[in-house]
Amino acid sequence: MARPGRILISEPELKARIGELGADLARDYGRGPSSPIVVGVLQGAFLFMADLVRATQIDLTTDFIGVVSYAGAQSSGHVRIVSDLSMSIEGRDVLVVEDIVDTGLTLTYLKRTLEARHPRSLRVCVLVDKVERRKVDVGLDYVGFTIPNVFVVGYGFDYEGLYRNLPYVAALEGE
Ligand code: IMP
Repeated sequence: MARPGRILISEPELKARIGELGADLARDYGRGPSSPIVVGVLQGAFLFMADLVRATQIDLTTDFIGVVSYAGAQSSGHVRIVSDLSMSIEGRDVLVVEDIVDTGLTLTYLKRTLEARHPRSLRVCVLVDKVERRKVDVGLDYVGFTIPNVFVVGYGFDYEGLYRNLPYVAALEGE
């Protein structure tokens, strides 16, 4: 039975790095002509999104988009929107908040879909980058942590729907 094992990113490490990302967002969006729409990618980014928006002192709007891209620990390369945004992003500054970039297929699909709606700008903030697994090159504007090729659970990351509620990021062990 696969279980959460070694902690890769602890609670204090998450808090400190997300604080820095929040300051970066304030610097980059704080003087913009309008407030950005921060789009959390469900389900994985829900905890990161909640902590990130609380770590930045700017006016912003939140929305969520739900995508399904994985079955278990294997990438299917198949991406589907299961729950769409509630508002138009045309002419707006959009920041996508994603939990992890692995092969890059999910984010590539998502960026293409959102670009087609003509936002004024589109940037991406990702908590964890598994850079060595990349199949397609996808631009990332803000990256929390770079990790090796390990399947992680906790802090929004799941294995077959479990372990999202752990307050830290751990390696999945015993698979
Ligand atoms: P990509 O399309 O391969 O970049 O995968 C992105 C999606 O795969 C993420 O949004 C996650 O839902 C899932 N994913 C990739 N690696 C992990 C992991 O280590 N733990 C949990 N989910 C993962």
